[in-house]
Amino acid sequence: MIGQSEMSLENKIILVTGGASGIGRATVNRLALDGAHVIVADTQAELAAEVVTEAKSAGGSAELLEFDVAEPGAAANAVKTIVTTHGRLDGAFNNAGITGPTVKLLDIDPMEWARVLAVNLTGVFSCVQAEIAQMIQQESGGSIVNTASICGLVALPHATAYNSAKHGVVGLTKSAALEYGPKNIRVNAVCPGFIDTPMLAKGAGASETVLNGVINSLPMRRIASPEEVAEAVAWLLSPQSSYLTGVAMPVDGGWTVQ
Ligand SMILES: NC(=O)c1ccc[n+]([C@@H]2O[C@H](COP(=O)([O-])OP(=O)(O)OC[C@H]3O[C@@H](n4cnc5c(N)ncnc54)[C@H](O)[C@@H]3O)[C@@H](O)[C@H]2O)c1
Repeated sequence: MIGQSEMSLENKIILVTGGASGIGRATVNRLALDGAHVIVADTQAELAAEVVTEAKSAGGSAELLEFDVAEPGAAANAVKTIVTTHGRLDGAFNNAGITGPTVKLLDIDPMEWARVLAVNLTGVFSCVQAEIAQMIQQESGGSIVNTASICGLVALPHATAYNSAKHGVVGLTKSAALEYGPKNIRVNAVCPGFIDTPMLAKGAGASETVLNGVINSLPMRRIASPEEVAEAVAWLLSPQSSYLTGVAMPVDGGWTVQ
């Protein structure tokens, strides 16, 4: 129930892309608990509707907005829709993403490369561009968090397209922070490590041997829950992180310190 947290995001209008599952879903629930009105955006409308119901039954406020971040013009239209209804946009978590082909660079199909870049990098760019344009118009500042990955900081093998897109998200985050800091618009990235979501279940989690290898390689010797990433995102979106911008924050149980 609302009332257990500091409500630091009370009445803030916040867009979450990829809100139907995993890290996005946990973050929607966390932000709603903090008092925000959350716009749950995803291509999986049915699942996103379940998340809206979940957030509301916990006493929060949320609504569904179905769109594909990779579709040209979709992010701009989404922001327009939000502003028509709510008059403003205070924050955003640009989190929608897909895994890439798990093959070596020479074996990547150019179409697969293009799709991974379209969703994981251009999709984030389109959202950031539309969100910042609106925040400038409001003259109210704002806070944006993008989901990169440990693959935005280092490279995992057989993941060239994903690594490239996520490094791009870190570069995009820094560029946006640099240019719009004077407008009090903060732009940060989270870099999750191995998180227990449907995406992980399709990758490293699909094989017990691979998953055990991952767990043994982690300083904290466990994968994380999506709620642990949501905590970091909620903090980055909140006024409590008021002097942080351009940061690519690992939430990885120490994996990238090695
Ligand atoms: N799970 C991990 O271990 C991990 C680690 C590092 C980074 N990440 C990143 O975290 C983010 C969330 O991943 P997750 O693990 O929660 O995965 P997930 O598959 O559970 O959730 C991703 C969500 O994004 C949505 N989505 C995909 N493409 C979309 C599009 N074009 N437009 C709108 N929505 C779209 C999906 O429908 C899904 O609901 C991704 O950007 C992913 O790359 C995940």
